[in-house]
Amino acid sequence: MSRLLFTPININTLTLPNRFVRSATNEYMTDENDFVTDRLASLYEKLARGGVGLIITGHSYVRKDGKASKRQAAIYDDKFIPAYKRLVERLRPFDTKIMLQITHGGRQTKPEICDDTPIAPSPITDKSTGVTPREMIHDDILDVINCFGQAARRAKEAGFGGIQIHAAHGYLLSEFLSPYTNRRDDEWGGTVKNRARILLEVLKACRLQTGMDYPIFVKLQTDDCVEGGLGVEDAVETAKMLEKEGIDAIETSGGIAESFPSACREGIDSPDKEGYFASNAERIKKAVSVPVIVVGGIRSIGVMESIIEEKKADLISMSRPFIREPDLIDKLRTGRATKSECISCNQCWHPDGIRCTQISKQPQ
Ligand SMILES: Cc1cc2nc3c(=O)[nH]c(=O)nc-3n(C[C@H](O)[C@H](O)[C@H](O)COP(=O)(O)O)c2cc1C
Repeated sequence: MSRLLFTPININTLTLPNRFVRSATNEYMTDENDFVTDRLASLYEKLARGGVGLIITGHSYVRKDGKASKRQAAIYDDKFIPAYKRLVERLRPFDTKIMLQITHGGRQTKPEICDDTPIAPSPITDKSTGVTPREMIHDDILDVINCFGQAARRAKEAGFGGIQIHAAHGYLLSEFLSPYTNRRDDEWGGTVKNRARILLEVLKACRLQTGMDYPIFVKLQTDDCVEGGLGVEDAVETAKMLEKEGIDAIETSGGIAESFPSACREGIDSPDKEGYFASNAERIKKAVSVPVIVVGGIRSIGVMESIIEEKKADLISMSRPFIREPDLIDKLRTGRATKSECISCNQCWHPDGIRCTQISKQPQ
């Protein structure tokens, strides 16, 4: 096995012990007021014990109307900081680092969840929910940018090793990037530069609040997987602008709520189906010099190694495999496994906390 996967990497002030990332995963394990819980901290402790280099939390919403699901963690107020502090403390004994993913759900929510009319760059009905969002006015945009900055400050105060700005999967920042959901004709829409403006302003606001030595990553939409949506060419241009503005690493993903295929493709049962955003990662890696992280259906050590060796990406990110096997990285490192047992069935989403439903079906 190539040792490259187990070689540490420095990104800004972070030293990651290996090239494995637990991609942001909404665990549905907050309390009824969206505070993180000891149950969630125990899950992260298990992941750290299992050897993953970096944990990116589930997406935490920066403004009240940015809540996308029930039992989603919040970061819109200072009152959330102490619970996050306790969670971060639980990981201190480990080499594993932890970053907070910050988000606004945009139009991919419902009034009964976000307690308001969902907002978006343009009033385009979401086919997955039938919700027509309210078009944001200029002042809304400025306020959301400020909320991301404040969330970054809170993350730093709570002790997170860095933040990841969520600009993928059809949530608000991804909606601005996409010509499918962004039909504006002001400075926030139209050209790639205008569509990326809010994301770049969010990055600037986060930097202002946290300083140059605070690691800031982005999860970047590289393909909406819908007709008329964002494609990899625009993503490459956006990645270059992000690099200029001081982003520390870019994780590449794709798919939106109403797309097929989605971010979480099913039936990944052979190496040729794995790494479905790896070619987009490679395109971005060729265009920028900051580290690139790739996510999407990566399951076996051979595929992981070839992605790194062929310089398609610098780090390997996974979500569903860790729900099944929190100790996956230790198993790969010690040769007890050469691939994840995850069958990509998407039955792990559960409103009372993520879980692998296949484990209970196995013969004892
Ligand atoms: C239960 C669940 C929750 C998820 N929550 C998030 C999230 O909060 N933020 C995010 O960027 N992606 C989220 N994702 C997407 C994953 O990070 C990842 O991009 C996707 O699952 C593909 O990777 P995989 O094939 O390794 O699972 C979630 C996926 C799952 C299965």
